[in-house]
Amino acid sequence: MTLDQQALATVFTEARSHNGWSDKPVSDALLRDVYDLTKMAPTSANCCPARFIFVRSPEAKEKLRPSLSSGNLEKTMTAPVTVIAAIDSEFYEKLPELFPHADARSWFTSSPAVAEETAFRNATLQAGYLILAARSLGLDTGAMSGFDKAKVDEAFFAGTTWKSNFLINLGYGDPSKLFGRLPRLPFEDACLLA
Ligand SMILES: Cc1cc2nc3c(=O)[nH]c(=O)nc-3n(C[C@H](O)[C@H](O)[C@H](O)COP(=O)(O)O)c2cc1C
Repeated sequence: MTLDQQALATVFTEARSHNGWSDKPVSDALLRDVYDLTKMAPTSANCCPARFIFVRSPEAKEKLRPSLSSGNLEKTMTAPVTVIAAIDSEFYEKLPELFPHADARSWFTSSPAVAEETAFRNATLQAGYLILAARSLGLDTGAMSGFDKAKVDEAFFAGTTWKSNFLINLGYGDPSKLFGRLPRLPFEDACLLA
């Protein structure tokens, strides 16, 4: 079964990166639904290294404020939810549960470089999956790398093994605040058939 054109438009072809938001709230139940789709998409050795902090209370938004770049400040402070897409640098501690048929934990405890590359690759994939999951459930999204990672990590993750990767605003977008749609590379420029 393939998705119909309307579904593809919702998730890909008509979906946009939003800069302004309507007042319509986003429930915690919907955030759980977004995560429950996101978690089902694949990661290597089922390692699931992404962690997601759904920042939606005014107090938590204020904790985020000092780390935001000027261009990302207003849209983030007004978004109903800002997700800190994070990475658990010790994701491998969950592998006895997540990948029980092999000693996968040792693949990563024996090589910090492999652990770091695996964590970054898969957590970034999972954050992308979260964008598509949110769009699939009718939300608009706006990803952002313009923020001070050290400040976010200090404010939210001090004393833990979690580290921020990027931010994703969630809500119902205000189309009047969209930037113009930018071109994408055609197949001929971005792909090879080998
Ligand atoms: C990982 C990531 C980081 C981004 N960082 C920012 C950012 O800091 N500020 C911003 O305004 N847009 C940011 N964007 C949005 C992109 O500029 C936008 O997705 C791209 O121009 C395509 O826009 P469209 O999705 O509306 O077609 C980011 C997008 C991604 C995926």
